[in-house]
Amino acid sequence: MTTTTATAAAVRPLIISLLLLSLLTASPSLRDEADHLLQFKASLKDSSSLDPTWAPGTDPCARDRPWLGIHCTDTTVSSLLLMNLGLSNKEGASIDVAPLGKLGNLRFVSLENNSFNGPIPEFNRLGSLKSLFLSGNGFSGEIPSEFFSPMGSLKKLEIYTNSFTGKIPASLQQLDSLIEILLQRNRFSGPFPILDQTTLKVLDLSSNNLEGEIPHSMQRRFPASAFEGNPRACGAVINKPCEALWAHTLPPLGEAIMASSATTRWVVLAIVLAMLLVTILLNKKDKSDMFTMIGSDPRTRSHHEHAVEVHAASINRRGVGSARKVGNYSENGAKKGHGKSSDLVMINEEHGVFGMPDLMKAAAEVLGNSGMGSSYKATMACYGTPVVAKRMRGMNKLNKDAFDVEIRRLGRIRHRNILPPLAYHYRKEEKLLVTEFVPKGSLMFMLHGDGGIAHAELDWPTRLKIIKGIGRGLGFLHTELSELELPHGNLKSSNILVSSNHEPLLTDYSLHSFSSTAKSLQGYKSPEVALHQQITPKSDVYCLGLVILEVMTGKYPSQYHNNGIDLVRLAREAVADGKVAELIDPEIVKGGGDVAEMERMVRIAAACVEEDHEVRMEMREAIRSIEAVQL
Ligand SMILES: *[C@@H]1O[C@H](CO)[C@@H](O)[C@H](O)[C@H]1NC(C)=O
Repeated sequence: MTTTTATAAAVRPLIISLLLLSLLTASPSLRDEADHLLQFKASLKDSSSLDPTWAPGTDPCARDRPWLGIHCTDTTVSSLLLMNLGLSNKEGASIDVAPLGKLGNLRFVSLENNSFNGPIPEFNRLGSLKSLFLSGNGFSGEIPSEFFSPMGSLKKLEIYTNSFTGKIPASLQQLDSLIEILLQRNRFSGPFPILDQTTLKVLDLSSNNLEGEIPHSMQRRFPASAFEGNPRACGAVINKPCEALWAHTLPPLGEAIMASSATTRWVVLAIVLAMLLVTILLNKKDKSDMFTMIGSDPRTRSHHEHAVEVHAASINRRGVGSARKVGNYSENGAKKGHGKSSDLVMINEEHGVFGMPDLMKAAAEVLGNSGMGSSYKATMACYGTPVVAKRMRGMNKLNKDAFDVEIRRLGRIRHRNILPPLAYHYRKEEKLLVTEFVPKGSLMFMLHGDGGIAHAELDWPTRLKIIKGIGRGLGFLHTELSELELPHGNLKSSNILVSSNHEPLLTDYSLHSFSSTAKSLQGYKSPEVALHQQITPKSDVYCLGLVILEVMTGKYPSQYHNNGIDLVRLAREAVADGKVAELIDPEIVKGGGDVAEMERMVRIAAACVEEDHEVRMEMREAIRSIEAVQL
């Protein structure tokens, strides 16, 4: 009896201390997790939606009443699922991720459909995370290339519908547990990364600004929908062969343009040597600067390039008045013996001035071939916006002086729907014409080019605005250049650029007057030109009609290229059979609008493509009819 009581008395403290021990280990850990979560909550702007359950002193994993959005495994937090809660971060401050890093079993974080903004928070501190869902927020900015390196366990990454920019982080390529990557509807740019991990099952990179060829390994494994909506991407999978539309990004434009002329190559070499000399002199003047220039800070680099280019532009000046605004360098840096062929003549200095060396050193990219020659997009360090440089052959009707007079006349034209040339470069066998680059690209590209994304934004008000703008631009040319037998002469959807607010801009107008083989320059041929070599101002009316048909039907005309549809015949038949409505692009109708007015526009277009130019209406009448069409 005494022994049992003695044992019981000895056991009791043991039980109590065991109880105490378990309290010490388990309960503080629970309290810690609550603290970490509350610390995370404190870094949010308005977290009232979490308030009812996220209360201090309660258990986030309580079985009867867990905290909102918290899922637990074995009484520790494993998922944070805070979707559709109107949460956001504090102004200018990122979410505090550090406290989440202390939740040892956290594997799944979703902040989908909230109002977070700013750069991507440091979720890469959560090295054992398996899923990260940040879609449907306003996150923006570049994600550092190494960002995902510490996240070796990541299986699913969903960050679509945000505003991320810059390149897709290269570190994604190293993660070999990834099953799903959804990056669509952001503003990622640059080349496609190679994401072809064998684990990867779902990939979506659509509707970004990625460019160049889609890696073959990815083309084989993922459908077109994974890549569509990247206007400057190419690859068989999205039906845009790379050679035809966009070649690879080229190194300096100079190589491309100058490749054909040995003399000019020497000139380029001389200029490069002169620039080197200048660089050395500049560096001598300020020794400390030398190191920053060698360094890779892009800011100092571009500053440095700018300094050199400023000088280059004035070295290369040849009495065209381009150096005036460019820099303070005196002419004594000029070297003798620069052939005239190295000149770039600025004809429009409203937006700034650049020289041939700037242009040749610019990063260039082939845009396509217009039939007259290749065009390139060139981005210069010294000139704000990118430009398009078009090489043109066969424009040798005029000698250099006459060419200069004519092109300046075209360059003086100012109208909101006309894009005049900025500069030219004259060589006997080839000319280079420089115009501004327009971000949305050509009307043709918007209608047929990029997987339907741009096409979908072309609703009836937008299409009407574009058609009316084309009419106004053409009308202006027909007044300004009324003495020309054919004021535009090259109207087609690829020569109509579209500004960011959907204002159409006519380019490549009147260039046939420079050509000894005028007919070869015609965008496509109205019947009188094709059959009888007869040019009249009404040829522009025919081309206008075809462009309107293209805009209204959303179809690519066979008049441009064999693999299109004969829109002229289609329109004639539709008018004759009273089935005009069937011709209208369903996309327009879907977006709403007065279908009768749409039909009216198609009928005007059908009248513009009247076969017999004697019967075909005049430009003035065509424009008047177009202006009368209402929304
Ligand atoms: C987020 O919003 C989108 C669009 O409204 C919706 O399709 C999606 O299901 C939402 N996601 C969640 C997790 O609720």
